[in-house]
Amino acid sequence: MKIADKHYRSIWFNQEAGKVQIIDQRWLPHEFRVVELASRADFAAAIRDMWVRGAPLIGATAAHAIAEEMKRDPSNTNLDAAWDELHKTRPTAINLRWALDEMRNLLRPLPEAGRASAAHARAVQICDEDVECNRMIGVHGLEIIRRIAAGKAPGEPVNILTHCNAGWLATVDWGTATSPMYHAVEAGIDIHVWVDETRPRNQGAMLTSWEMNSHGIPHHLIVDNAGGHLMQRGQVDVVIVGTDRTTAHGDVCNKIGTYLKALAAKDNDVPFYVALPSPTIDWAVKHGSEIPIEERDGEEITHVQGRLADGSIGTVQISPDGTPGGNPAFDVTPRRLVTGLITERGVCAASPEGLAGMFPEQVSQQTNAG
Ligand code: MRU
Repeated sequence: MKIADKHYRSIWFNQEAGKVQIIDQRWLPHEFRVVELASRADFAAAIRDMWVRGAPLIGATAAHAIAEEMKRDPSNTNLDAAWDELHKTRPTAINLRWALDEMRNLLRPLPEAGRASAAHARAVQICDEDVECNRMIGVHGLEIIRRIAAGKAPGEPVNILTHCNAGWLATVDWGTATSPMYHAVEAGIDIHVWVDETRPRNQGAMLTSWEMNSHGIPHHLIVDNAGGHLMQRGQVDVVIVGTDRTTAHGDVCNKIGTYLKALAAKDNDVPFYVALPSPTIDWAVKHGSEIPIEERDGEEITHVQGRLADGSIGTVQISPDGTPGGNPAFDVTPRRLVTGLITERGVCAASPEGLAGMFPEQVSQQTNAG
């Protein structure tokens, strides 16, 4: 997407520098910083400490990490060590494991001499595939927004609520939940977005708001607790969120607080959609309770980062000394609360049948593997 008329992806290989570069998201929206990732430790830190974040981008970063490692040392020992170190960085987003497996399964049968170029080509391809999946999610999601818009009075926008940042910054480009929004704007449909701030790390306040601002999309930043109230008052037409892992039966794991939005949406007859590229589906897991939920540092709860009066970026403590923070980073929304899954192939029910109908080849692969 564009920043001040220049097109950016969230990660790219800079041919001139011969290096992978990313937008370091820790400093947004106040500072736009691009950094290079070179060593395995750089890549691992970038994922673990959330310089990059969002399930698809975590996967894309891991793919580039393996590619860079293969340039340094293409041995099986190094391939396995890199897989292990990267896999430990963040446990919930399945795209991480998906990308690491894609890379290892491709590279293992190859002679060492051919691994670096094959790994580089596949990492670039994984990024391109993510962009295309997300573009198609937008094409399909647009039809949902278009249908809602058709029932509105002239000049009345479609009000969309979203949680966390499932925007282009969370993917390689377009975003998942935001792609239908960007497509709606391109199609000339009036929309307005309620952006949940998304405590504790405020991905909504810092990242989604920044995306909406940069693209001139009307929006308001709201506290995480406002959504239910707005739904009761008829001020939300549809909820669209992303996901870090969706099970083969359609349960959806996403940023903490998503479940409460889904409950409120159900109570108020507001449709609740989840947008996802297929690498976010964990075909090996049926029930959401089986998904590992990342526990992050309590300091993310007790402290908040922002721009200080002198313009610098700083952190302030908001709770008393000695109060520990409890920080489960994701929750599971049961499929019964999900109106539909917006995938690159179309919209399907959040159910075993819905997903199997959309991705029949995955079901036969699982059957053969089992
Ligand atoms: O902890 P984060 O910022 O990596 O969490 C991101 C989310 O929960 C997103 O909603 C999810 O990864 C989908 S991104 C397209």
